[in-house]
Order: sequence, then C-alpha cells, then structure tokens
Amino acid sequence: MAPETTDTTGAAEAPDTSGPSGAEAPGAVPVLALEDLSWSVGGAVIVDGVTMRVEEGEFVALIGPNGAGKTSLFNLVSGLTRPTGGSIGLAGTDVTRYAPHRRARLGMGRTFQTSSVFGDLTVGANVGLAVQARTGESRRFWRRATPDGGAEATEALDLVRLAHRTDALAGDLSHGDKRKLELALLLARRPRLILLDEPMAGVSAGEIGELTTVIRDVHREQGCTVLMVEHHMEVLLDMADRLAVMHHGALLAFTDPDSAMADPEVQAAYLGDGA
Ligand SMILES: Nc1ncnc2c1ncn2[C@@H]1O[C@H](COP(=O)(O)OP(=O)(O)O)[C@@H](O)[C@H]1O
Ligand SMILES: [Mg+2]
Repeated sequence: MAPETTDTTGAAEAPDTSGPSGAEAPGAVPVLALEDLSWSVGGAVIVDGVTMRVEEGEFVALIGPNGAGKTSLFNLVSGLTRPTGGSIGLAGTDVTRYAPHRRARLGMGRTFQTSSVFGDLTVGANVGLAVQARTGESRRFWRRATPDGGAEATEALDLVRLAHRTDALAGDLSHGDKRKLELALLLARRPRLILLDEPMAGVSAGEIGELTTVIRDVHREQGCTVLMVEHHMEVLLDMADRLAVMHHGALLAFTDPDSAMADPEVQAAYLGDGA
C-alpha cells in the first residue's frame, strides 16, 4: 500500500481545546491523539476514521458491542498492526510508523487478553525482571542488577496489592491476581499511557471488586492515563472520565458517561437493531 498519511509531527498538531471537564489546561498536548485512524482488511473496514484525543491523567473507557473494533483499535495504537489511514500521536510525537517497542519506550504500556506472565517464576521474580528490563542497561557497568528488582518492585507489588504473594509461583495465582501481576509488570516500565483490554475477562465475580480498586489506584496514584476496554458497565461508570463508544469500527460517542449512555445512537447500537 502507498503511504497514506502526511507527516503531522510537531507544530502541525493543533491541540483541541474543547477537551473534557476533567482535563488539563486547555491547549495541553494530549497523551494520545488519534486522527482519522482507519484500518481495512480484505476490503472490510474494521476501524473507520476514529478521531479522539485523550488528555494527560484521563481515564477513558472504550466500549461497544462485540466485533465493534475495540481490540483492532488497540492493536493500531500499540503498533501491532499498521493503519491504512490516519495518524497516532503519543504526547506530541507522531508514532504512526513506530514499532511497538519504540512506542513502549515513549511511555505506552499495554496488557493483553492472554497472559504474559512467567508461570514458573515467583511473583517477585517476574516483577524484578520487568524492572531490570528497564534499568538493566544503565546498571550493568556498576554492578549486577538485583535479582528481585529492589524497592521499585516492592512498590509496584504493594500498589497492586500483591505484596503478600511475592514468593508464590506466578502460575499458581488466581486469574484476578494474575491480572494484578500484569499491572505490576506494566508499572515497572513507568508508562504514561496504559491500554487495558478487558482486564476483568476470566476473573471471578468475587475478584472484580478488588481488581477494580487496584486499577483505580494505578490511575490515581501513578498518575497514568488509562484507556480501557471493558464490558462490566458498573466498573466503568464508576471510574471513567469519558466513554468512547465504538460501533462498526466508528466512534459513535466520546463524552462523559451519562451523556454517552443517554445518546440514542449508543442505545440503538447496544440493542443491536442495526443502527
Ligand atoms: N486480522 C483480521 N482480519 C480480518 N478481520 C479481522 C481481523 N481482526 C479483526 N477482524 C474483524 O474486525 C472486527 C472487529 O474485531 P475486534 O477488533 O476484535 O472487535 P472487538 O474487540 O470490539 O470485539 C470483527 O468483525 C473481526 O472479525
Ligand atoms: Mg476485543
């Protein structure tokens, strides 16, 4: 395919000042700026011209019926797939053509629906490795990196309420605790933007409450900006500053939760009447 985007790096980004009520000062550079982002496969339009700006510190929930294109959008944002149109800005840098690891280095963190945890290592060792992955380069000259990741690993485990399981094998954790561990692994990389794709999937009903609290703590205490796909509405409505509603690949609404849920187009999409 021929190049489809013009280079919009730098000054060409004119920040939208009509941001949400909870946002930073008007004119601030958004953490994430999607412009007319599109992805087509074999003639099917999967992501259809999505434009949205997520401000620093915001918690945005991405919702929509199954097959709406939420995971596909995440794949574009994190760099797993290349858009067929539009652009992706990360804190003012046009990362549309960046590989996932370059985006990660600029502060983008993502968890996956399938677990990325080393099951035969302890919880502490998993986080220690993640801390080392970030700090190892600079430490190598001075001394061997501490295998436990030191204070930083402990902090991350405290934050996700998993400190009491430090010595457990990661493979023995419940689904909910595994999700917490994945969050700790993400935090070890000091992300500024976290993408969570259905973090409650597979988690027992009894664990959802605490996992919700942990995600909220990660957002508030680490000051991370969060973009989260989730089906549990009671979880979302409680946490989200704004809801982004997708349907047939397009963004139907991007506004505060009450307004989004009151939107007739959104209601029609959820009723599945083909709107
Ligand atoms: N690699 C692909 N090739 C073709 N179609 C795809 C591909 N990935 C996703 N799709 C289709 O795109 C649509 C959106 O999928 P997805 O992004 O997983 O939706 P959601 O996460 O909202 O449930 C679905 O119809 C799915 O079948
Ligand atoms: Mg999905």
